[in-house]
Amino acid sequence: PLTLKDAAARHGRRFGSAFAWAPPGRDAASFNNPAYAALLQRDCAVLVAENQMKWQALRPSADRFDFAQFDAMVDWAMRNGFMMRGHTLYWAYSKWFPAWLNTQDFGQRPASAAAGILDHHIDTIAKRYGRKIYSYDVVNEAVDPDTGALRETSLSRAMGGTANVLDHAFRTARAAAPHAELVYNDYMSWEDGNEKHRVGVLSLLEEFRRRGTPVDALGVQSHIGLFQPTTDAGVLAHRLEPEWRRFLDRVVAMGYRLVITEFDVRDRGLPAAIAPRDRGVADFARAYLDIMLSYPQLGDVLAWGLSDRYSWLRGFEPRPDGAVARGCPYDIDLKPKPLRDAMIAAL
Ligand code: XIL
Repeated sequence: PLTLKDAAARHGRRFGSAFAWAPPGRDAASFNNPAYAALLQRDCAVLVAENQMKWQALRPSADRFDFAQFDAMVDWAMRNGFMMRGHTLYWAYSKWFPAWLNTQDFGQRPASAAAGILDHHIDTIAKRYGRKIYSYDVVNEAVDPDTGALRETSLSRAMGGTANVLDHAFRTARAAAPHAELVYNDYMSWEDGNEKHRVGVLSLLEEFRRRGTPVDALGVQSHIGLFQPTTDAGVLAHRLEPEWRRFLDRVVAMGYRLVITEFDVRDRGLPAAIAPRDRGVADFARAYLDIMLSYPQLGDVLAWGLSDRYSWLRGFEPRPDGAVARGCPYDIDLKPKPLRDAMIAAL
């Protein structure tokens, strides 16, 4: 029987997943949990830390880094033959800044002080891990989905606008990690009738090209979702297909490659009963992945966790009926689900 990574490898792609840090003995999506480590080993060629490379994890204060957890993850990945992506050098959203950065006083020369903090952060990480990390989500979620405008933060206010901050991040990353693929990562609000988010991402990508900002790929997060009650999820995906393709066609026409960085399936619109719910999730995923994989520009495909047991969706988007979200390829008992078969078939 094929595994996810073998299925992807047939077409020269890599499959992978997010994983977490936890001490041995803890029931978590960690390499220290043998049951979860076995899933990673079976299905993944690539790993990405779910939270441990973010500023909130690495930067307890302006003058300190804490690498202990992320180091342990990178070491385990390297010892076990995985490749690693880095997520994320700059999450351009004040909600996800460490508290100290939102209130930082940049002093008399704010532009250079703020740029210094950003550069130092990116430089330190890129040089510490070198070729162990082959691809970075340099910038995450810089576009406000409600307006399509770029989000402002303490750094953007100090540095004369968000465009300056983002360019700075990509240029610093290119200089510090010239071997690495540099990705702009976002979620595009696929299923939303409101197109503003996608329009905003397209204009950001156009601006990057116009200014010569070194960006190689668009990361399509792919937290895809079934929100409306539906009895045929495949049909729903195909109704959305023309709009998705219009967007993706414009992205690849600008010369960007594509990466699926955080795939999982939100199942709020599906019934609680397991069998029809798993069928709907699998059908929707299959239709979505078929569209994405029809682009030769698409490289790696990463899931945001392998098991429903540890999925962020349980907390982020609880179902109104209280049932556990079933958006990952393995269930809460770490047993494979129809979604895994659908992913293998699509890959
Ligand atoms: C999420 C993690 O899964 C959660 O554990 C954490 O509390 C918040 O962040 N888009 C991203 C990811 O780019 O970093 C987010 O990860 C999920 C949405």
